[in-house]
Amino acid sequence: MCGIVGYIGKAPAAPILLDGLKKLEYRGYDSAGVAVLHEGKLSVVRKKGRVKELEGCLEPTGSVGIGHTRWATHGEPSERNAHPHVYGKFAVVHNGILENYHALKRECEERGEEFLSETDSETVAHLLSFYYEGDALSALQKTTARLKGSYALAVLCTDHPDSLFLAREKSPLIAGVGEEGLYAASDVPALAGKCHLLYSLSDGELAELTRKSLRFFRGGEEIEKLPLCVETMGDIPEKGGYAHYMRKEMGEIGSAIANSLVDFASEERFFDFNRVLCQTEYIQIVACGTAYHSGIAAKYAIESLARIPVDVTVASEYRYCDPIIRAGTLVIAVSQSGETADTIAAARLAKERGATVAAVTNVPYSSLTEISDFVLETRAGREIGVAATKSFNAQLALLYSLAAELARTRGRGGNFQALRLIPALSERVLSEAEGIKNFALGIAGAKSAYFIGRGADYCAALEGSLKLKEISYLPSEGYPAGELKHGTLALIEKGTPVVAILTQSALAEKTMNSVSEVYARGGKVLLVTSLPEYTDRKEVEESILLPRCEEVFSPILSVIPLQMLAYYTALARGNDPDKPRNLAKSVTVE
Ligand code: G6P
Repeated sequence: MCGIVGYIGKAPAAPILLDGLKKLEYRGYDSAGVAVLHEGKLSVVRKKGRVKELEGCLEPTGSVGIGHTRWATHGEPSERNAHPHVYGKFAVVHNGILENYHALKRECEERGEEFLSETDSETVAHLLSFYYEGDALSALQKTTARLKGSYALAVLCTDHPDSLFLAREKSPLIAGVGEEGLYAASDVPALAGKCHLLYSLSDGELAELTRKSLRFFRGGEEIEKLPLCVETMGDIPEKGGYAHYMRKEMGEIGSAIANSLVDFASEERFFDFNRVLCQTEYIQIVACGTAYHSGIAAKYAIESLARIPVDVTVASEYRYCDPIIRAGTLVIAVSQSGETADTIAAARLAKERGATVAAVTNVPYSSLTEISDFVLETRAGREIGVAATKSFNAQLALLYSLAAELARTRGRGGNFQALRLIPALSERVLSEAEGIKNFALGIAGAKSAYFIGRGADYCAALEGSLKLKEISYLPSEGYPAGELKHGTLALIEKGTPVVAILTQSALAEKTMNSVSEVYARGGKVLLVTSLPEYTDRKEVEESILLPRCEEVFSPILSVIPLQMLAYYTALARGNDPDKPRNLAKSVTVE
């Protein structure tokens, strides 16, 4: 959520900053800006819209600078609210939310200072000026001591043309050393190919990057830091001939699943974790968005295979619901990015209350991994599309492996064999799923859409609905099929699209009853099923037939046509599926 970059070195800063911002654009894309410091003067360019708007407008000279790509929190997306914010001798870019900025701003205004934006971030530039007595690092120290909330900051000061300053609290920030100079960024890939050493700032740390040195500070004292041991995820991948990252990443679902299946029993690195699994009596899963839906799928699998009770809570609610942790509680925090602020806070709270915390994440060096007792890495590869696809399938592969292992340790037999079949099955589903294009064209003009399913199919319904709404902007709801008649049925009228997911044979007739109720009111039904006997039913307008798999694992396959449906509906409505409006891939604010 918001991306920040910084550079100081031998080369012109502007193209390096621009390149870094493009790689961070998944974090926000409503406005962007760059400040370059040259011969004691700041040259600042800010634009509403995407990073490419900055092209051709930047100061060509100057070898120190900062940049920002924004996802608005305080103040509408506009040029004046875009970063960097400048006051006096300071230019600042900020990612995070300052919770006490109203009070700080009032304090500055009482001194007669004028604010030019509606942002919380501008306050930082004002405070830096106020505390500055010739030592910019000390001013940053004093400023950050006043801030409450979350921030990653990169700061320039016109009196210090050979320095770039950084500070971090609860928002990710990486510093890097390369041949051409020193770099800063919100995330590793923005620095890929440029740096041979990377350092992750921890909460409460400051850094000063000069043309020759990189120094870290905590509580006013200089500290030593070890470089990150990143098996680097490489540069931002190309689209590989696809029109969009989202479609390309769906093509990688098979390998994401295959790489994320884990045989906990036979891998030595899970020795300690296995001991925890043996003692686990209760599991709480915390997550947001798509990762929350993975948690729901995991609940069905763990409870049915291992008979261990599982509660799944949206992380932003878990934080405030006074969670109860008993002996034997394992808390699993699921997050593709490992940077989602609410998920991190929920994991932290669980830890404070005595739980063992395991992170399920696609980014092994993320903030979430720092605070977790165990890290279970999904290996989906980098995901650029803002709407999660392959990372969801990868999370399910890992969580289903966990369910199988929990079942095995309880003497209930693991279902690992069934899991091994899934990567190949997913490839089949993917080619079948292209057939959903017609249905997508048919619903592109609808007012709303509904997804229904029972048991494990309910989880696929939730994720299918989320995908559709986030990239097509079509209002949509995922519902337990049996609950339809308690409210949502009132919204079904002639032509309303309803997607029914039907893979649980014991529940199939019951879900078909809901389908009949929809049909009777004129609804247009797409059936996504692994049960061929239902595809010919008169209530079904179109169907996608899935291969059979162990039923409790079926969301890992049934979600694929739903992801495809969202993709083609978004295209039919003229939207960019990779960058849905108002959303960002990594939500590092509360
Ligand atoms: C954002 C993204 C979603 C994602 C959610 C949780 O809302 O747009 O696609 O599911 O954050 O992200 P995480 O990285 O924690 O899985």
